[in-house]
Amino acid sequence: MNQAAYILLTEQLLKSTFEVPNEAEAKVLVEQLQGVINFHDQQYYVQSKPVVTDYDYDLLFKWLKLIEENYPELISPDSPTQRVAKGLNKEFPTVAHLKPMMSLENSYNAADLQEFARKVKEALQEDQKVKFTVEPKYDGSSIALVYENDVFVRAATRGNGTEGDEITANAKTIKSIPLKANFSQYGIAKIEVRGEVIIDTENFKKLQKERLDINKKLESEGKKALELFKNPRNTAAGALRMKDPKEVAARRLEAIIYNIGHAEDIDGKDIDTAVLRSQFGNMDLLRSLGFKTPEAERAQFDQIEDVSAFCLAWEKKRDNYPIEIDGMVVKVDDTAQQQRIGKTAHHPKWAIAYKFKARQAQSRLVRIDYQVGRTGAVTPVAKIEPVQLAGVEISSISLHNEDFIKDKDIRLGDLVIIERSGDVIPYIVGAVAEARTGQEQPIVFPDTCPSCQHHLVKPEDESVWRCINPNCIAQLEERLIHFGSKDAMEISGLGEEIVRKFIAENIITDMASIYQMDYQKVRSLEGWKDRSVENLKASVEASKNNPLWRLIVALGIRHVGVTTAKMLAKQVDKLTDLKDWDEEKLKELEDIGPKVAQSLLEFFSDDDNIALLNQLESLGVNISNNSQSAQVSNALEGKTFLFTGTLAKMSRDDAKELVEKHGGKNLSGISANLDYLIAGEKAGSKLTKAQKIPTINIIDEDTFLSMIQ
Ligand code: IVH
Repeated sequence: MNQAAYILLTEQLLKSTFEVPNEAEAKVLVEQLQGVINFHDQQYYVQSKPVVTDYDYDLLFKWLKLIEENYPELISPDSPTQRVAKGLNKEFPTVAHLKPMMSLENSYNAADLQEFARKVKEALQEDQKVKFTVEPKYDGSSIALVYENDVFVRAATRGNGTEGDEITANAKTIKSIPLKANFSQYGIAKIEVRGEVIIDTENFKKLQKERLDINKKLESEGKKALELFKNPRNTAAGALRMKDPKEVAARRLEAIIYNIGHAEDIDGKDIDTAVLRSQFGNMDLLRSLGFKTPEAERAQFDQIEDVSAFCLAWEKKRDNYPIEIDGMVVKVDDTAQQQRIGKTAHHPKWAIAYKFKARQAQSRLVRIDYQVGRTGAVTPVAKIEPVQLAGVEISSISLHNEDFIKDKDIRLGDLVIIERSGDVIPYIVGAVAEARTGQEQPIVFPDTCPSCQHHLVKPEDESVWRCINPNCIAQLEERLIHFGSKDAMEISGLGEEIVRKFIAENIITDMASIYQMDYQKVRSLEGWKDRSVENLKASVEASKNNPLWRLIVALGIRHVGVTTAKMLAKQVDKLTDLKDWDEEKLKELEDIGPKVAQSLLEFFSDDDNIALLNQLESLGVNISNNSQSAQVSNALEGKTFLFTGTLAKMSRDDAKELVEKHGGKNLSGISANLDYLIAGEKAGSKLTKAQKIPTINIIDEDTFLSMIQ
């Protein structure tokens, strides 16, 4: 069927009432729906040219699911509903590739490419014309896909080149991999195509952001944070081996196919090079069958000088390309010539990689600074000679903890390799051991606090050294910076530099002193004017009336972040009540695990902390769960809400507060758990997203207000 026919069929199907048909109709419909959905997947994920709205697509998909549920015998493994398998991968059995997956030889400059071209011509031994195809070298995880009788039957990782891990269930979740492809029209009964599984840069950033958000939540609940993603390649490779195909689907992987590894006809005979004639033609063929292949990115040249120029031009624009690429691949285009040129045990002699310069830099490790956090954790920070890397100057890089330094055997004075991929913060890959002169010094982690000289301690099962001096100035600085920060007491005039200065000037000495500042003294400091002092005073005063949860966050109790604080604030009349709570009672609360409970117990059983709270109260700081956020009705009990766009009658924060006051729950994003989306003026992508989920009620501000009247 061609594109026009699919579009026509789509229109016809969309006119239906989406009911469960009788058996005879079901069979036809399942086939039509599968075909149409596969077609639209291809338009969207391969061609990036969707010809149906997401809404209509969902209608068709849900209908197919409904029919298949009622006639399970009609479910075929290549149905689009079967992309995400329900069970878990138990193991990834080893499978042999139909032909070995070879590596590529590397080249780094025009001279290397000249030499490659010379050898190619020499191997052909005739005065034949040679055409080169050039395409990006995708920096992902290689994959081999087998199709038998037009059906996708197996996916495997590269492994050792001869054998790889079978990861079919995970590969099926990748929408740019067609589940069916009409190879038989070319006499191909069985084929292995190869390519790269990648995550594009934008999607990678999204995944990383999602992970950072999850970590914030986990940390606030006292749970262990998830490791951040290192780079797109690593993330893609990791995803292919995940146990749960549902999680693989959530990584939104893509597969780009660039090679036919093996193709045979119905008798097991290799397909002739007259059919699969050229690299360029093979890519066109695969693209026409629904695969994502290098498209605008590939080019053909007769002259190797033009190949070099093309590679160089790509190296310049690689940062603007939405997928990580680490070079270009130059291939002799003609497959018959490829065969004549042959291969070594390791790589084909008709292809070569042109490697871009790595986004790595080397620099000298000059010094280690040790930074003390507000909980006393001491973090080593490498100070290096400033170096440019992917457009930014780098002079300071975290070394995380003592184990990191030991594992990498990094020494003072070492030449270190720094890497920065995508948007990830730079990290030290390791030291260049060969460059050592013998003058390098081992890094000895201090046993006393760099700020207060109190001795450091490290619990057996942790990797972090801590200063446990409650009067440590460095910790005090960090604690007071945290106290006034945006998620805590939100004292806008009390930023990082000012806190440090005020501590140095003895204007503030602890949390309570923030509310007893000598403003005359502040005025006398350099850079302060009447106006700025007034502003500071106003923001300090305003913070006294903060809702209780802000104070709980500001206290900096270990493992207690915004979520826990908000929940906790609702449980008490006055914060000091918590001193009478025992572990049992704490653990009964939603989301409070043993670690958080322990931390709260420690905090509230300490008389000094209770004295601090009493003192704050006497200075006018709210330590009560005052009526502001107390529940006033159950009108929204059990329902979830999300606001989007500009509201006319209230601020977003007020609106959220109303939800809570009436027993409802605020959600932060569109999901199937959302009951109501309140759309204000200029509502954007959230609204569009919500419109695709039929269970979400989309209402306006007035309707929302009428719900709580
Ligand atoms: S062709 C027989 N083309 O690079 C030729 N490989 O360093 C086989 N790669 O293992 C490879 N982009 O995983 C080819 N456009 C491209 C590629 C590509 C990335 C990977 C591939 C290969 C590795 C070699």
